[in-house]
Amino acid sequence: MTHSHEEQPVVGVETGVGMAPGRINLIGEHTDYNAGFVLPFAIEQHCLARIRPTVDAASDAPLIVHSRQSDSRVEIARGDVVPGAAWIDGPSGWAAYAAGALWALVDAGILPRGALAAEVELDSTVPIGAGLSSSAAIDCSVVVAADRLFGLGLPPAQIAQLATVAETRFVRAPTGGMDQLVSVLAERDHALFCDMRSLQTELIHFDPSANGLEVLVVDSRAPHQLVAGEYRNRRLACEAAARQFGVPALRDIDEEELPRRLAGLDDDVLRRRARHVVTENARVLQTVELLRGGRIREIGPLLVASHASMRDDFEITVAEVDLAVEVLLAGGVLGARMTGGGFGGCVIALAEAGTSAALATAVDEAYAARGFSPPAHFVAHPGDGAVALAR
Ligand code: GLA
Repeated sequence: MTHSHEEQPVVGVETGVGMAPGRINLIGEHTDYNAGFVLPFAIEQHCLARIRPTVDAASDAPLIVHSRQSDSRVEIARGDVVPGAAWIDGPSGWAAYAAGALWALVDAGILPRGALAAEVELDSTVPIGAGLSSSAAIDCSVVVAADRLFGLGLPPAQIAQLATVAETRFVRAPTGGMDQLVSVLAERDHALFCDMRSLQTELIHFDPSANGLEVLVVDSRAPHQLVAGEYRNRRLACEAAARQFGVPALRDIDEEELPRRLAGLDDDVLRRRARHVVTENARVLQTVELLRGGRIREIGPLLVASHASMRDDFEITVAEVDLAVEVLLAGGVLGARMTGGGFGGCVIALAEAGTSAALATAVDEAYAARGFSPPAHFVAHPGDGAVALAR
């Protein structure tokens, strides 16, 4: 049987291994898809992806994805490795982040379709559905593993872009690209300042422990509901506001002109959505200025203001998340806010070193008193971005 070049399986290589971290966004929420600014950092929790081509595979060998966490094995017929396929919305949907990463490489003409005859094994320590980008950890680690396996030598920015395509075009999640950028480009003891219009990035020193501080993360474990739909609605509202302002994106509105601009909108919801994005962009720039000046202890009020804006104007917080922020602030942290897309997920607090255990206990008690299920917590350390590992 003869195959076209397109369908030939790729053989001759053994295994590619890639590691990519999850992230915490220090500040700049829902600004990425508004061509604005974000300031995330990578965490130590990461996904390891191992890819093995199916040697001597028939041209119709499926793509196989395993996960150590779900203890399951998903077989996807080659013809089903297409954007928006029905299985992506089903119980095996987690495998779509890995399949989408390989698809993005094929779609870009970097790999032949035969490269889909492979087995991908995922092993992740990033909590799932906690707003810490467990999905970006998967798609970035798979692109990095493939880059190593096939000796592609892709530049880091392109790796992030391909991983983003896996999410936006293959899984069809309308996300904004921040998570993949930081998962690939992060460096230890730094946050990554990103201009999401130009995609220019700059590492900003962010080393809480060198300043007698630590970042406490509280995972609210609030049931994520309607996340995808609500995220999309926020994005559509921002686009509608930008259209009414007559600008390409909300990034193009300055904080100074905001009151005048808002007065011209007749819809109160759009007004509040736009106000969040414009003020959040300004808060990112102010945070970057403070960190550049070595004034990490002064960023607290910006984190607090960001949370209030997400709660009141963007309306993406939930009771569990707001309660954690309240308890942490009452416990004396320098600042606290929800991080990530919202509707559940994690709260971060900038706290004095050594105080996290007592703060976490206070949050646990407050949750119990309100009848919320117990949260999880850990201290985060700004870590390195994705790497290929020796196989
Ligand atoms: C999710 C998306 C990101 C970003 C954040 C909100 O994490 O994946 O692109 O929009 O939400 O800041």
